[in-house]
Amino acid sequence: MSKDIVQIFDTTLRDGEQVPGCKLDTTQKLVIAERLELLGVDVIEAGFPVSSPGDFKSVQEIAKLVKNATVCGLTRAVKKDIEVAAEALKFAKRPRIHTGIGTSESHIKFKFNSNKDAIIERAVEAVSYAKSFVEDVEFYAEDAGRTDNEFLARVCEAVIKAGATVLNIPDTTGYCLPDEYGAKIKYLYENVKGIDRAILSCHCHNDLGLATANSIAGVINGARQIECTINGIGERAGNTALEEVVMILRQHPTLGLDTNINSKLLNDTSRMVSQKMGMMVQPNKAIVGANAFAHSSGIHQDGVIKNRETYEIIDPLDVGVDESSIVLTARSGRAALAYRAKIVGYELTKKQLDIVYEEFLKYADKKKEIVDEDIHEIIETSNINIES
Ligand code: KIV
Ligand code: ZN
Repeated sequence: MSKDIVQIFDTTLRDGEQVPGCKLDTTQKLVIAERLELLGVDVIEAGFPVSSPGDFKSVQEIAKLVKNATVCGLTRAVKKDIEVAAEALKFAKRPRIHTGIGTSESHIKFKFNSNKDAIIERAVEAVSYAKSFVEDVEFYAEDAGRTDNEFLARVCEAVIKAGATVLNIPDTTGYCLPDEYGAKIKYLYENVKGIDRAILSCHCHNDLGLATANSIAGVINGARQIECTINGIGERAGNTALEEVVMILRQHPTLGLDTNINSKLLNDTSRMVSQKMGMMVQPNKAIVGANAFAHSSGIHQDGVIKNRETYEIIDPLDVGVDESSIVLTARSGRAALAYRAKIVGYELTKKQLDIVYEEFLKYADKKKEIVDEDIHEIIETSNINIES
C-alpha cells in the first residue's frame, strides 16, 4: 500500500531551545542541524532571527550549511521581524518564513487589545509581506487550540488567499484532548476554502502529556506536517517528541502514513541533543529512554528470551539500539540468569542453575542490579563443579 508522507518539521533549535538553561551557541546548532538533515527531517526551524544577533547568525549559518531540508525562521506578524528573517534566510536553498499571530479570545483581548477583524488584517499583511521575500510562507495561529473553529477557518482562508503554503494550528498551551484537536483539524480540512493549496500542520505542546496523541489525531484527520523536537524538549512540559510520532506512524502501517525519517539514527540523535543541551532523557522515555528496551521482571525476561515480540513492539535495531537488555534484579527468574550466565561464559545444567539461582537471589536482594562481574563471583563461589 502506498503511504502518504507526513512532513517532519523539527523545531529543536527554536521551540526546543526555549528550555531554560539549554541555550546553544552557533557551532553547537550547526552540528545539530547537520544531524537533523542526516536524520531526514523535511524542515529545520533554525531560530527566531529578530530575537538576538546570536539567533540571527545561527539561522544564517544553518541556511548556508543545509543542502536538502527547508530552513525556516520564525517571526511575529511584524514587518521588521519578517525583513530580518528574510535576510537571515538569504542563502538557504529552500527558505521558509514562519509568521503568525494569536487568534484565541484571550490573545486577541489581552495580548493585542484588538478585535477579530483587525487580527485577520494583520495576519494577511504579514503573509503578503513574507511572500514578497520567499515563496514558502507558513502561517501560525497562536493558541489555535483555544480558538473557536469558525473564526480559525476564517483566518486560514484569508491567509491562504494571501499565499500561505502551510497552516500551523498550534495547541500552544497543550490544552486540547486528542478527539478535540483531531476534530479541529478535520473541521479546517473540510471547511476552509482553498485548503487544497496549503497543508495543515500540527504543533502541540505537552502540558497535559498529550502532545504526541494530539499530533497523531491531527494527521489522522488530514494534517500532513508535524512540528516536533528531539526528546520532546521545549517550553514548560515540552513539544511533541519527534521519535514518538515517527515510530507510531511506522508501527501502525494501517494508518497509511509514514515519514522520511531514517529511524536507525533516532537513538544516537537523541543522545547527541541531550548531551549538547545538558538535558538528560528520562530513563522511561518512549523510544529513546535507557530503559525503553530493558526487561527486568522474571515473567517478561522469560518471554523476551523465548521470543522478543512477546514484550517488544519495536525491533531495537530499527531505532539504532543494538539489542534489548535483560537486567538482572531480585525479580529476575532462572531463565534470565541462565541466559546472562551463558553470555558471560557459563553453560549451567538444570541442577547447577538451581544452586546458583539460590545464591543469586541472596546477592540480588542486597543490590539494585546484578552486573556481569557479580555473576562471575556468584558462580565461582557457588559450591558447584563448573566448567566455564
Ligand atoms: O506554540 C506555539 O504557538 C508556537 C508558535 C510560535 C508557532 O511555538
Ligand atoms: Zn510552540
